[in-house]
Amino acid sequence: MIIKSKQALEKMRTAGKLLADIFEKINPIIQEGVSTAFIDAWIEEELLKRQLVSQSKGYKGYKHVSCISVNDVVVHGVPSAQVILQKGDLVKVDVCAAWQLYCADMARCYIVGNEQDEHKNHLIVIAQQALDKGIAQAVVGKRLYDISAAIQGHVEHYKYGVVRDFAGHGIGRHMHEEPDVPNFGTAGTGMRLQVGMTFAIEPMITQGSYEVYVDRDGWTVKTKDKTLAAHVEDTILIGENGPEILTRLIQ
Ligand code: MF3
Ligand code: CO
Repeated sequence: MIIKSKQALEKMRTAGKLLADIFEKINPIIQEGVSTAFIDAWIEEELLKRQLVSQSKGYKGYKHVSCISVNDVVVHGVPSAQVILQKGDLVKVDVCAAWQLYCADMARCYIVGNEQDEHKNHLIVIAQQALDKGIAQAVVGKRLYDISAAIQGHVEHYKYGVVRDFAGHGIGRHMHEEPDVPNFGTAGTGMRLQVGMTFAIEPMITQGSYEVYVDRDGWTVKTKDKTLAAHVEDTILIGENGPEILTRLIQ
């Protein structure tokens, strides 16, 4: 686990703000009739404008700058011209990009169209709250799995599933660094958190069972029981005065 230098942190802050700015502008793009390939192409242009370098394109043969996961797809949905968004779809957009070689990783959920389905909305709200509860534990002197336990506790209180097979991660010069940050675990255990550590925290939650499988394409992660899933992610720093969320424009 690397403690980031001041210079590294400045670059991660810039990466985070620029990435958050793209997400700030993405809402009108996520519309009925639009393909996930179109959204990915739009993100690619926005990254370019900001001198952000995609960390997913070229990673283990992945060809896109985002993962766009619809409904029962939990994470790593592959953008495609064949996937056309429909009214009511629950869409997760996940982008990892670097500015001057330092990464920020971020994901948000959207519902296509105006009629807001109560159940889908609730799933998203709980995922966002779980992320915030996890981040609130990202404090000097606490332990790594305090973050995990806070996420799990919140999600399971609402009888949703916490995906086990994928986790958050350390982040910095690389998209994925040690250690894993699971979304389940025992409070009071794991490594002690120190100033200058940076993590991508990313709860992945389901309406039903937490079991998932990877599709034949080798990427797409789906719920086994076909229930809906939500996923949100922020890149954070263990700061001297508490957690600093690098991928938010306002804390
Ligand atoms: N952004 C994803 C994460 O949160 C990683 C993208 S997976 C890739 O870990 F293979 F598409 F790059
Ligand atoms: Co991530």
